[in-house]
Amino acid sequence: MVAAMSFKTINNVIETWETIRRMPEWEKEIGVGLFAKFFKMEPEAKAIFGFREDLDVTDYKVLISPRFVAHAMQFVTMIDKALNMMGPSDEMLSEILMDIGAKHARYGVKPEYFPTMGKALVSVVGSNLGEDVFTMEVQESWIEVYNAMSHDMIKGLGEVYTVKKNDISTEIEPQQQVDSAIWT
Ligand code: HEM
Repeated sequence: MVAAMSFKTINNVIETWETIRRMPEWEKEIGVGLFAKFFKMEPEAKAIFGFREDLDVTDYKVLISPRFVAHAMQFVTMIDKALNMMGPSDEMLSEILMDIGAKHARYGVKPEYFPTMGKALVSVVGSNLGEDVFTMEVQESWIEVYNAMSHDMIKGLGEVYTVKKNDISTEIEPQQQVDSAIWT
């Protein structure tokens, strides 16, 4: 899946992330924005990140979480890896992503959290960069990269669930893909 992406697509994502990293207090901005959006859509996922279910996502102070920002950075580190492994190592890259997906099953991450996390991530990156930098093309690149990585990760995650519960298919349903129509 990741193999099908162009260098242009991956570069758009890496370059815009670098721009984010040069902004003042970017960790706070991204961390707070990501938390607020993601937990609003998936309140029960708070426990996975070690927060109480009654955490107030409108309280700015409680939203500053190095853990969540660390996750955004881990995600981009994976994109970097994807770039370096494209070509001869395509299969290896898919295997790595599936392994990380399996780890996520152990953290308690459900397949349906992936599109919501993607939506929160792209939306917060877009609002921090502004329309001039975060063009339609860049937005499409972010969605494509996120969906491709999620595809392999959910496959690995699905296998763990199948072994554990035998009730989740390893096949990815189209509705688990992030759809560009839902960003706006
Ligand atoms: C394409 C999407 C994603 C990528 C590339 C990604 C990547 C990663 C990576 C590389 C790690 C570190 C793994 C390790 O070595 O232990 C990690 C940890 C983690 N991820 Fe993800 N992830 C994605 C989506 C998600 C989603 C949708 C959730 C849940 C809502 C999630 C929740 C977590 C949690 C809870 C951890 C453990 C670390 C912590 O507590 O902060 N991830 N992720």
